Amino acid sequence: MKHNRLWWLRIPVLFFAVLGLMELFIDSGNLPAIIAYPMAQVFMLFVLLLLIAIEGILAAIENVMFHTLDDAAKERYLASKQKQTTWEWKWAKNTYKKLLGSKPVEAEGEIILDHNYDGIRELDNKLPPWWVYLFYATIIFAFVYMFRFHVFGGYDQELEYEREIAAAQAEIEEYKKTAKDLIDANTVELLTDASDLKAGETIFAGNCAVCHKIDGGGSIGPNLTDDYWILGGGIKNVFNTIAEGGRAGKGMVAWKSNLKPSEMAQVASYVMNMHGTNPADAKEPEGEIWMDPNAPVDNVDVEQIDSTEIEVIIETDKPNPLEAGESTE
Ligand code: HEC
Repeated sequence: MKHNRLWWLRIPVLFFAVLGLMELFIDSGNLPAIIAYPMAQVFMLFVLLLLIAIEGILAAIENVMFHTLDDAAKERYLASKQKQTTWEWKWAKNTYKKLLGSKPVEAEGEIILDHNYDGIRELDNKLPPWWVYLFYATIIFAFVYMFRFHVFGGYDQELEYEREIAAAQAEIEEYKKTAKDLIDANTVELLTDASDLKAGETIFAGNCAVCHKIDGGGSIGPNLTDDYWILGGGIKNVFNTIAEGGRAGKGMVAWKSNLKPSEMAQVASYVMNMHGTNPADAKEPEGEIWMDPNAPVDNVDVEQIDSTEIEVIIETDKPNPLEAGESTE
């Protein structure tokens, strides 16, 4: 039994092979799986320990076997082991030299060129093999690339760009979903989507109808469908009333602890939508007529005057100082 001593090569190679396979098969989005999932780190640690343990066990078995040998066999074994170690070193050294491809100084005579500039001479060194191999590799890569993307038609930059835009769009949508709850009375906007109004209607029926009646006509709470508002109309005031509640002791509580901002915006929009529905048996108006300060002003005719046509007539008894020059004529 001869245990190969290349453990320092075997462990990292196997380790990175397992790591590569793991990254290939686990979909972890933009991050590598080893960073995204702590479980993956534990797994790789386990793999590493396992590899070390296997090497340890093999070495131990070898050791035990060694002791079962007789003296002559032991000697032979050690000799072959020694040979193997030197072979490993030789192999590494030779490969290194081969890749470098430089001529030893003694052999420089073979490659020296015959020109001579003031005693400076030139060696005709071959290109180092490591460089040449790299060059061949780029040629092979170029062919693979060409066939992959230009002959068989993989994805191109445009498609890649569109994919990234689509992914970013999805992220924005995702963000907007959570950002909906960042609104407050200052930033709230009237929602007009049918789905939002439907959600608002459900919230109203479940929480508000007991006091405002299902049609908004009002009973304990005031009529929400007329032009009159106690606490101010418009989406921002209504949202604020719902969030913070009405005047103390009147019965309208602050809903911000029970409803999310997005839900308050939905029910506020639903309330705004009930305006002008004139339900039967509605409560008398309370409060004041609300005028939206930001309401668009329409049907106001403003006569346009061309300022270049305006004639300014100054009537005065005193001589005009500007015309003084002319008047002296
Ligand atoms: C317990 C009864 C009660 C419930 C439930 C209730 N309200 Fe009220 N609401 C009132 C009363 C009472 C007032 C008047 C407050 C005041 O005068 O300060 C009021 C006022 C309001 C106003 C302001 C009206 C104005 O004229 O300015 C709005 C808007 C409103 N409620 C919406 C809601 C919504 C939306 C809900 C459900 C989430 C709700 N209310 C639930 C009793 C209630």
